Amino acid sequence: MAFKVKITKDVFVENGTLHLGKQTVDRFVIRGILGKGANGVVFDAHHLVLNQPRAIKVWLKLGGTDTRDKVTQGIAEAQKLAASDPRHVVMIYDAETAGQYLYSSMEKITGRTLAETLKDSDDLHTRWMLARGYIHAIQSTTTSSLYHGDAHPGNVMVYDEDGDYGTMMRMKLLDFGTSLFSGKENSRARHWRIVYETFVRIIAPFNSKDWALEQSIPYEGREDALRCAYFDDVIDGLGMELGHLDGLVGFSLGAKLRGEP
Ligand SMILES: Nc1ncnc2c1ncn2[C@@H]1O[C@H](COP(=O)(O)OP(=O)(O)O)[C@@H](O)[C@H]1O
Ligand SMILES: [Mg+2]
Repeated sequence: MAFKVKITKDVFVENGTLHLGKQTVDRFVIRGILGKGANGVVFDAHHLVLNQPRAIKVWLKLGGTDTRDKVTQGIAEAQKLAASDPRHVVMIYDAETAGQYLYSSMEKITGRTLAETLKDSDDLHTRWMLARGYIHAIQSTTTSSLYHGDAHPGNVMVYDEDGDYGTMMRMKLLDFGTSLFSGKENSRARHWRIVYETFVRIIAPFNSKDWALEQSIPYEGREDALRCAYFDDVIDGLGMELGHLDGLVGFSLGAKLRGEP
């Protein structure tokens, strides 16, 4: 049955066709909704000419206290995505306006957000793969002029990719922040704070004294397991990534993760 949904009085899907104000978006048939956030809705779509899946994001104010113009914000977000390496962010194909709305077409990722993935990934190996993948994606997308700015677990997709050596877990960032957080914290500081908090969230089950003692890991009176010998090794395993981050941010994330001043 053709998909049908009403997002606002002006934005709705009827018979699989997306209506934005008085216009329709004709190249795509809409099959469902992939996700919704404060800034818009992302539809599960199919490109009728190219016969390929797509994700269509429409920028809309759906919640929060943000009063920014959604077209301006969407253009800034789409441009950041377009300027980034599509091996580490979702590939954006196009962005255009229809009536007073902006929409973009992107590759559709068949997977789950990092936030959802963390709910049922409790073992050390998986958590460590996720931590590595996340830091690698951040490293590969952060330059002196471009950075994600809002890379929390809800803005990271985790998916499987088939290869010669079996299935590999892969990760891509989406939903770039558009750095209009004036005031207390500058956007670059916010970027690194969110990266740090997300990393700590990924390794949380193993970032405790109890866990370290259970594993007979030398603890040396440090405050948490991150600072114990085991995680020193693990963090050293990330050497390149963390070293690169350190250089970029001008403070040592590696040292911060180890609890050094
Ligand atoms: N290209 C995509 N492929 C698959 N799912 C996506 C894609 N883009 C977004 N989503 C889903 O939609 C959700 C909301 O998208 P997002 O761009 O983060 O919107 P918002 O700016 O409102 O937070 C994401 O958390 C994710 O679950
Ligand atoms: Mg989001």
